[in-house]
Amino acid sequence: MAECFKYKDKNNRRNTMSRKIMVFDTTLRDGEQAPGFSMNVDEKLRMAIQLEKLGVDVMEAGFPISSPGDFEAVSKVAQTVKNSAVAGLCRANKKDIEVGWDALKHAVRPRIHTFIATSNIHMEHKLKKSPEEVLQIAEDSVKFARNLCEDVEFSAEDAIRSDLDFLCKVVETVINAGASTVNIPDTVGYTVPMEFEKVISTIMNKVPNVDKARISVHCHNDLGLAVANSIAAVKAGATQIECTVNGIGERAGNASLEEVVMAINTRKDLFDDIELGVNTKEIYRTSRLLTSITGVGVQPNKAIVGKNAFAHEAGIHQDGVLKNRTTYEIMTPESVGYPSNALVLGKHSGRHALVKRIEDLGFTLEKDQIEKAYNKFKELADKKKEVYDEDLETLIEQQFKGGKEFYTLGSVSFSSGNSAIPTATVQLSNGDGVTVTDASIGDGPVDACFKAIERIADIAGRLKSYRINAVTEGKDAQGEVVVSAEFEECGYDVTGRGSSTDVVVASAEAYLNAMNRYLSRKDQKAEKVADKGV
Ligand code: KIV
Ligand code: ZN
Repeated sequence: MAECFKYKDKNNRRNTMSRKIMVFDTTLRDGEQAPGFSMNVDEKLRMAIQLEKLGVDVMEAGFPISSPGDFEAVSKVAQTVKNSAVAGLCRANKKDIEVGWDALKHAVRPRIHTFIATSNIHMEHKLKKSPEEVLQIAEDSVKFARNLCEDVEFSAEDAIRSDLDFLCKVVETVINAGASTVNIPDTVGYTVPMEFEKVISTIMNKVPNVDKARISVHCHNDLGLAVANSIAAVKAGATQIECTVNGIGERAGNASLEEVVMAINTRKDLFDDIELGVNTKEIYRTSRLLTSITGVGVQPNKAIVGKNAFAHEAGIHQDGVLKNRTTYEIMTPESVGYPSNALVLGKHSGRHALVKRIEDLGFTLEKDQIEKAYNKFKELADKKKEVYDEDLETLIEQQFKGGKEFYTLGSVSFSSGNSAIPTATVQLSNGDGVTVTDASIGDGPVDACFKAIERIADIAGRLKSYRINAVTEGKDAQGEVVVSAEFEECGYDVTGRGSSTDVVVASAEAYLNAMNRYLSRKDQKAEKVADKGV
């Protein structure tokens, strides 16, 4: 049975050596370009450092020509990350590739990733070019990129809806031009495992120089088949899977990294010829970091990283698990770094215990950050009897959200009720340490707080979305608030987060965080204009 899952070459010989399957993470590019998932430079950098810890072979850090912010993020990631290759996406033209290279050139292992669409639909309606022209552009772009960078990946966008003979020709041409990886994307999430396996087999069998490059796959999830399609492609000979943390990405997202990796690892009986470099114990942390940065959580029943992924509710299941975990558990929560729900700390816990727990949760903090975390922990432990791992994660992530703080929150007080006019008084300090207090009425205490913050900063804002989640169980749980708002009719939304055992304070923190992020973005833009001498 297991034999039929293993890759066989064109002479129907089974590969007896183990195959390294590269994990190419595109959370910071395909993932980040989806609405609601945008990250600033600091956030991308934090995510990149975690992805390196996770052990991804390649991380795509962005699309450098698309915006100055993306250029800067790719450049910073390239200069910081040492163990994973860092890729930047470029359309198949000289300008994109030059800018891409400029952002990537200081990486230890830079990769230029260039692409052009090869399906008739895209060539005719979007590019308005003939197949011959597209083939020529693909060849020229790869050659141009190879003059700058040794590691070049080419993607045939919308490969799955391309004519298969033409696709094979494109693959052969770009390999001859110097591409070391050729990616076969299912851009619109249209294929199914049996078909995709056949397409990849055809490429493996028909393209004469296919052994000179790595065949990669990049599956979108429009039909919910991205992970299954990626695995079918591996069976047919693909040796790179492109995926994202939590499966984020355009429309219905990309193949989810954690699902692909755990499917291969859990079914070692079927995939014993496959080697992956990912440290699965970092999966849960990486997923949490992403949700904390973007403010978008995963559904509770999400495979591998959802809140219920390892929860056994039914009596029969609980009974089975108590007798022997393998009755209903195909992998252990520990194998993906899922934290135990154990009670960890309380108000009598000391600095040493806190530092140890923080380290166990995978955070590395500087001395002054530890001090700050300790003070926050003490404040929290005073309000909350039991401090859980999730509380600590939230506390640390909230404290070190990164980015410049134009205003910091001092005190918040409010009064409201079913027969009172909701009123809030807020005190903020600006960067020069000047403290300003103001008050406002509103539709409720949260609205009143937001209005008081706007009055102090003299910035008009429009709240677009507001979400609140309890971090743990219990009436004394912290509330984690995520807001999205537009300031000064700037034309884009900014996300902010805050947490506290008091939900109004958490809301004020979140709104102020969004405002600080807006001001930071505005500041960066102003600096860029000044640089150009405008
Ligand atoms: O989905 C897609 O085709 C892409 C390519 C740019 C690789 O994201
Ligand atoms: Zn994509």
